[in-house]
Amino acid sequence: MINLFLFCRAGYEKDCAAEIQEHAAAHDIGGFVKTNTNDAYVIFQCFQAGDAEILAKKISLDSLIFARQMFAAKALLKGLPEQDRISPIVEALAGIQYAGELRVETPDTNEAKELSNFCRKFTVPLRQALRKSGTLLDKENPKRPIIHVCFVGPGQAYVGLSLSNNSSPYFMGIPRLRVPADAPSRSTLKLDEAFIHFIPKEEHETRLSSGMRAVDLGACPGGWTYQLVRRGMFVAAVDNGAMDEKLMETGQVKHYQADGFRFEPPRKNITWLVCDMIEKPARVAELIEAWAINGWFKEAIFNLKLPMKTRYKEVSTILATMEEILKENGIKDFSIAAKHLYHDRDEVTVHLCLKPT
Ligand SMILES: C[S@@+](CC[C@H](N)C(=O)[O-])C[C@H]1O[C@@H](n2cnc3c(N)ncnc32)[C@H](O)[C@@H]1O
Repeated sequence: MINLFLFCRAGYEKDCAAEIQEHAAAHDIGGFVKTNTNDAYVIFQCFQAGDAEILAKKISLDSLIFARQMFAAKALLKGLPEQDRISPIVEALAGIQYAGELRVETPDTNEAKELSNFCRKFTVPLRQALRKSGTLLDKENPKRPIIHVCFVGPGQAYVGLSLSNNSSPYFMGIPRLRVPADAPSRSTLKLDEAFIHFIPKEEHETRLSSGMRAVDLGACPGGWTYQLVRRGMFVAAVDNGAMDEKLMETGQVKHYQADGFRFEPPRKNITWLVCDMIEKPARVAELIEAWAINGWFKEAIFNLKLPMKTRYKEVSTILATMEEILKENGIKDFSIAAKHLYHDRDEVTVHLCLKPT
């Protein structure tokens, strides 16, 4: 296949494009980017056929900040006839055997969403046809590759494949989360999504467990604290604002009306540091670095608010600096990962895990 198709948030195509170009170059794969502002997707067109599969395998989706999902795709199928859109798609996918799942998707834009009803209905007959041709297994299999058919306009679709161990488990790369009725703010979903994204499900019990201590910098009104309390943790919530009363009634939260940049935790047995303060990203990164060097937490999740331009460059520079500083200060074993999550707006979420040595 010739194209790598990447889903991103509308308005972030340039960042997603800059990022994929850098990663493709690091793998010595030549190509160019095709993208339009607000399309909510980016195409990296390789110079050589077959290279898109290599990229879809070698570039870990988790290492990409701005891509929610990616798949290797054939050339755009245009002018799919209304009376039979299925045959050309089945034909285009003819070389593929025994895929485990079919997803008929659209980019995440309001215009494309108008196609989503059609996509839902179209999935059923397309699935049947792909099973008949042997492209798709009769039973869904989460270990086999996923077929993506992404309609970018009426009668226009990119079709291709992602590997189940290197793709988002979610349709369009978007986890569907609901704001709990008693949550103090909608931004509660940012931390909920971050935990789901960065911590493997089978490790939630040990890494997000009841009785742990957490600090939430910039906590008010308490959407992030809510997620920590929900998981049974005891939280020091730092913010000059007002905390949600119900959350305070749980007895699991101590509210410190203080400056998050000066706050020093009275107890140092903190597992989780979370931070959602609206500040310059470099300043937030410095704060997290200082906490890490002091050994005040085991894992941190924090948001970096993004500048208007050259967002990829700014974030990647901040993360590279953080890595350097931690190493310079003798912290050897750690991991840093960042993602522009679905519930993030002009910000990215970062996870820093300090491994016990
Ligand atoms: C985006 S809101 C946090 C929302 C919160 N995570 C939630 O889910 O409800 C940012 C918060 O950071 C706080 N903040 C900004 N600068 C701060 C500072 N220097 N120290 C403490 N809090 C700060 C603001 O008062 C504000 O409540």
